[in-house]
This record gives sequence, structure tokens and C-alpha cells, in this order.
Amino acid sequence: MRSEIAVVKQTFAKVFGAADGLTIVRAPGRVNLIGEHTDYNDGYVFPMAINFDIVMAVRKRSDQLVKMHAIDFNRTVEFSIARPIEYDTEELWSNYLRGVLWALQGAGAKLVGLEIAFLGTIPQGSGLSSSAALEVATAVAVKHLTGFKITLPDLALLCQKAENDFVGMKCGIMDQFISLLGQKDHALFIDCRTLEYERIPLELGDYRILVCHSGVKHSLVDSEYNRRRQECETGVQILANRFPAVQALRDADLAMLTACQAQMDPVIYQRCRHVITENERVLKSVAALKAGDLKCFGQLLNQSHDSLRDDYEVSCAEVDLLVSLARKVEGVLGARITGGGFGGCTVNLIHADAIGEFSKQVLPEYRKQTGIEAQVYVSTAANGAELL
Ligand code: GLA
Repeated sequence: MRSEIAVVKQTFAKVFGAADGLTIVRAPGRVNLIGEHTDYNDGYVFPMAINFDIVMAVRKRSDQLVKMHAIDFNRTVEFSIARPIEYDTEELWSNYLRGVLWALQGAGAKLVGLEIAFLGTIPQGSGLSSSAALEVATAVAVKHLTGFKITLPDLALLCQKAENDFVGMKCGIMDQFISLLGQKDHALFIDCRTLEYERIPLELGDYRILVCHSGVKHSLVDSEYNRRRQECETGVQILANRFPAVQALRDADLAMLTACQAQMDPVIYQRCRHVITENERVLKSVAALKAGDLKCFGQLLNQSHDSLRDDYEVSCAEVDLLVSLARKVEGVLGARITGGGFGGCTVNLIHADAIGEFSKQVLPEYRKQTGIEAQVYVSTAANGAELL
């Protein structure tokens, strides 16, 4: 972290002149332990923030220009807040920052001119939420510099709005919420309908959370993701015809779904079944962790993957291979895909003594069958975004 801060400061000075008067912010990525594609269905999720971050340096300007520099791409973008903030069709990365400024302005924040430089250690396209972290870092810095009064859950909603309505990705609330509200050594159990949350101590004893990156970037994710959302909405309409209390898949159970099966396209049925069963798995996982029953938690992780692969169809051959190889390693209690899907990372619950074996067995076999080098990271739960 220290070296990243130094690089950000140095680069800031190079691009914008001296590095005095800087506000430095970090915002973490996340790994979702369980509760996938439930957030936009008013359901439950259970993510934790990780030690991969966006680190951003920001300084106010006396005029109305915003200058942003992405250190990883070595690109600088400039625009004026005197005019409406517009989508940039060339420097796509800049839209996450532009979108947050746009959403903050819409919510009544008095924007100021800014100089911004940032870098990221979250692998992009990995399903570990580099985009949400970028939004959150921007939001926290601008909130600080403008004195805009807003609660953290509302700030998460503004970041989500930036991504939904400015960037055009119809994501749920999970990633922005955990990046803002994560806490060291805890996972966050979030009710995405009420935004009530509970910080659950991650007491894993001899077990660890191992994240394994398949090396497959989830490029399809936006269009397929938005399509899944629509499929869920179609399911809700059919369910609500028969059960008017169903406003979101959160309100349905398997008995209701079965009662409507004849009216549903089989694909819609599968999508609904995933969401309904996944919500149950989140509740059971939280209970299992509280009871110290890691074996049960691991089984739920496995079931989650199978449901995402078969019912929700958001996995891919490479990630399925990683999961099945992982499950053969003695000491792995559970393995599943994490994040939006179509590539990215798996999350594994593994005994500390088995981590070496995991690397020895899984990585070479994965390389042999796919030609891709997978990466492993042992992750502990980190704090949410903070001013440094
Ligand atoms: C992406 C979205 C989240 C969530 C997950 C799937 O990460 O940004 O809101 O829907 O996919 O669980």
C-alpha cells in the first residue's frame, strides 16, 4: 500500500505539478463469498472487501476544470463542469469517474474543479469489482472535498446510479456497498432490499479464503448481465400474476415457482430457481458461519456454483474446470465462481495446510488443459474505503 501511495503521489506531481495539498483515498475491491445475482432481485449477499484497491490522489482547482489521469493506462482526460458532464466514447475508464461526478451533481453536490491521479491493484475483468472501487474512491474524495453531506449507504446508491444510468451497466448495489462499508476481518451480510447490514466476524480457524483468477476476462458480462436482469423481471411478472405479493424474486419461494412453472419458459424458470435457492443459501451460510460449521458453508459454496453454472448459466468452461480441480484437493471445503460471471475468479474455502497442494495440483492441470496461467491469492477481509 505504501509503495502504491508513493507512486500515486509521484505521478500526480509529474502530471499536475507539485504534490502538495493532496487528499488520498483508497477503495477496495471485493470477493463475494455467496449470494450471486441476488442483489438486483432485492435479495441477500455476503461479500467481503479485499486488500486489492484503487488508490487515488485528488486536489481542488480554482477553476471548473476536471483533469483525470489513469496511471495504469498513462492517459489523461480533461473536461469542464461548467457544461453538462458527458459520456466519453473513447476513454471508457473515465466514465466511472464522470458518472460519479454526474450522480453527485444530480443529488445536489456543488462540484469543484479537480486534479485526479489513480492506480489500481485489482485485476480488471476479474469479477473483483475494480469498477465499483473506482467509483467509490471518486465518491469518497469528492464528498470530502466538497463537504457534501450524505450517508455511506446513500453514497453507495449514487455510485450504483452512476454505473446504471451513466455507464449503462445495470449492476446491483453489492459492489459499491461493500467497497464503502467493508470491515477488516468481517464479511458483510446485506439485505439488498432494505440495505440493512450486519458485519459477521470471519472466524475461519485453520481455513482461508483463496481467490483463484482463471485469467479469463469477463468481457461479455455487460450485455449478458443485463439480459439476466430482464429474465428475472419476466419471472417476477408471471409470479406476481398469481401471487400479487411478489414484487421481486426475494418474495418468492420454490412452491410458488412450481405453481407457475407451466406458464414459464424453461429458461425463465431456471433463472428464478437460481435466485430463490441462492437467497436461501446465503441465509444458511450466515447461520453456518455463526455456528462455526465450515463444512456446511463449503457445501453451500459448491451448491451455489452448480446453480450458477446450470440454472443461471453465467459460468464458463475454464472456471468450471478450476472449480472441479479445486474440489479434488483435500482440504478444500467448497469452491465456486464469484462476481458477475463469464470468467474471472473462483472463491475457495481451503485449509491453510492445503494451499501449497492447491497450487501444485490445480494450476499445472489448468494450464495443461487451457493453456492459461491461473493466479491464486489468499485473501483476508479488509476495511472499506478510507481517507489516508
Ligand atoms: C456484478 C454486479 C453486482 C452483482 C454481481 C453478481 O458484480 O456489479 O451488483 O449483481 O455481479 O452477484
